[in-house]
Amino acid sequence: MTSESVQPMSGPSRRALVAAVGAAGLTVALTACGSGDEASDPSTEQGAGGGATNEESGSSTGAGAGDAALAKTTDIPVGSGKIFKDEKVVVSQPTAGEYKAFSTVCTHRDCPMVDLKDDIISCTCHGSQFSILDGSVKKDPAVKPLEPKQITVNGDSITLA
Ligand code: FES
Repeated sequence: MTSESVQPMSGPSRRALVAAVGAAGLTVALTACGSGDEASDPSTEQGAGGGATNEESGSSTGAGAGDAALAKTTDIPVGSGKIFKDEKVVVSQPTAGEYKAFSTVCTHRDCPMVDLKDDIISCTCHGSQFSILDGSVKKDPAVKPLEPKQITVNGDSITLA
């Protein structure tokens, strides 16, 4: 008699059903997160990149148009030169009609140089000396020659290229 009331035990099947629903819910949540991230990123990057490229090309065109002369050829003595502090450049004239330009930043430890005597520019930081006619080192501790700079001579005006 009492054995009949023990029959309805559907406990294990209910647990299995709850577990299955829980797993399905997790799968749906993970899929939603993944697709959301992929959709938003590429569109933002493309928009920013296109704008920056346009601005760069516009500004470089404007800088090329305003080519103010650095010096007149008559300002540069033959066998010597002249320092342009603001531009950190020295322009020299090794032989009549031949012009060269070099950076006035010392190649030893980057001190700006403003001391020019004849064809020698000197660094007051540690005593290096350079020829402004070819940029070569004349006195250490510097070992690298001066960095050459591009100039353009047009008539009697010299401009930095
Ligand atoms: S920085 Fe010019 S000699 Fe050292």
